[in-house]
Amino acid sequence: MSKNISKLSGRKGLQENLFDKVRQTGRDAGDVASQHLLGKSSIHGSRGFYDFLSENFRQQKAWVCNGTSCLCSGDQESLKVDLEKALGEGKVGTMTCLGRCYHGDSFQFDGANYSGGQSANIKQLTKEKAGIPGYGVSCDSKIAVLTNEGFATLNQFTVALENLLEQSRMEILALVKASGLRGRGGAGFSAGIKWESCMREEADSKFVVCNADEGDPGAFSDRYLLEQQPLRVIFGMLVAGWITGAKEGVVYIRGEYPESISIMREIISQLYEKGLLGSDILGKDLDFDLYVLEGAGAYICGEETSLLASIEGRRPEVDVRPPFPAVEGLYKQPTVVNNVETLASVQGVLDMGADAYASLGSGRSTGTKLVSLDAGFCRPGIVEVEMGVSLRHVINDVAGGFRVPTKAIHIGGPLGGLVPVDSIDALNVDYESFATEGFLLGHASFVCIPESFPMVRYLQHLFEFVRDESCGKCFPCRLGSVRGEEMFSQAIVGEKRLNRDLVNDLLDTMEQGSLCALGGGLPLPVRNILQYFADELQEYFHQDMLIHARQLS
Ligand SMILES: Cc1cc2nc3c(=O)[nH]c(=O)nc-3n(C[C@H](O)[C@H](O)[C@H](O)COP(=O)(O)O)c2cc1C
Ligand code: SF4
Repeated sequence: MSKNISKLSGRKGLQENLFDKVRQTGRDAGDVASQHLLGKSSIHGSRGFYDFLSENFRQQKAWVCNGTSCLCSGDQESLKVDLEKALGEGKVGTMTCLGRCYHGDSFQFDGANYSGGQSANIKQLTKEKAGIPGYGVSCDSKIAVLTNEGFATLNQFTVALENLLEQSRMEILALVKASGLRGRGGAGFSAGIKWESCMREEADSKFVVCNADEGDPGAFSDRYLLEQQPLRVIFGMLVAGWITGAKEGVVYIRGEYPESISIMREIISQLYEKGLLGSDILGKDLDFDLYVLEGAGAYICGEETSLLASIEGRRPEVDVRPPFPAVEGLYKQPTVVNNVETLASVQGVLDMGADAYASLGSGRSTGTKLVSLDAGFCRPGIVEVEMGVSLRHVINDVAGGFRVPTKAIHIGGPLGGLVPVDSIDALNVDYESFATEGFLLGHASFVCIPESFPMVRYLQHLFEFVRDESCGKCFPCRLGSVRGEEMFSQAIVGEKRLNRDLVNDLLDTMEQGSLCALGGGLPLPVRNILQYFADELQEYFHQDMLIHARQLS
């Protein structure tokens, strides 16, 4: 069935994109359905998935960020109360996450994002006043690959494109492979190998998809690139298109980032005007059309198969792999899906050469990585570090240490490892040391957990997040996240103590039985917390309480 919808959606393709229409259609989906030769139920099935398309959401006027960093800052409740006073009861909802983790106090209002105390003047806020708030951007690497000036002008972009087209596809592919560039979206898969497998596929059409869904609460490095380095991202997509033979691309940007969407749309229209997108770019054998699609409030759409389903206008449930998107992706055609930062890094690789790029970093983690530092650090913002640099250096010297006493850092989003401060010295910013120590670098977002924040509440938050964002396809995640949230909520209010066997059983089931890393990845930070914060959590566990009581008597 989903294959049929993909094919039918593919008939109109990206030009008359079904997802865009699903976003815009009201409850009567008849027109959209008949235009695409689909049943109304397919449109309703897709539309019903997204938070932003619900009736409840449409009645709200502002949304408070309820991401992890805002949760730890403790200002969400009062912000909501303030906004409701100004806008009316029931008019304020939540969004996760607005990517303002360096400020806190974040909310969306009238199509723009605000943070850092702007709620006091809500009645005077306008999109023009929102602007792009300042946050620190620094470079700690001996060579800046992503935070230097980049393409300051369209002219520089044109020159880079001309240089690209003077070399053969195979030469460029060899360069990208030799650089060791690995995907920055979390899994760390080789960009060159992914592009090569897509290139080798015979197909009528191919696509490049830039995954700009940046759903991990705490991460805002993709937002930085989209808003401040958009040409770098587009250049990476053109290179991927040139190598693989893809002639169309999509930048799928989360709806929580309205500024990123408008900046990207604006720059793309300038590129079309200058003939740098479209057909016969620079009079060479390069055609590339680029579309921006706006997400509608679903974390799971960052997972690549769900992302592709979303673009097709299908209900964005995760699909089984293989086939991988490079072989059978968008509209069942070979598709490269890459993270924003992976694509943005390509310009640096071409500019400095594969050897120089690979000389940065350590072992199999080459190049540089953007790290998102939240408001728990003395110097929050974006920092570019050389892969392999010690975590202690990043925290003490670059981030300036913790603003308040801190017990742990959650690195790599809700599915990343939770690193207690005692373990910092064992880690470097690379994939290998994190894996060895039982953590996950992921997209390298750093969220500080203050000593005063109860870990039992943090555990409940993690299950709540997965419960709310589960696509529902497999039961270990769909039901397991609900049961987990219940267990920890009940423990918090003292209704029921936690049973260790039951918690372990739940984690094993989710880890082993989930189809994707949403349900399958949650047990990692949960186990980290249970292991490293056992003393703090002891009072919530049934048996531990008894043992503890016996020891005391
Ligand atoms: C639950 C889940 C959420 C994800 N969210 C994102 C995301 O927001 N952005 C992203 O680039 N990759 C995300 N990924 C990873 C993608 O599935 C995919 O691996 C990535 O986009 C590939 O690009 P890369 O090779 O350049 O990293 C997510 C994966 C999972 C399982
Ligand atoms: S693990 Fe969760 S999000 Fe992933 S496929 Fe299963 S239900 Fe969907």
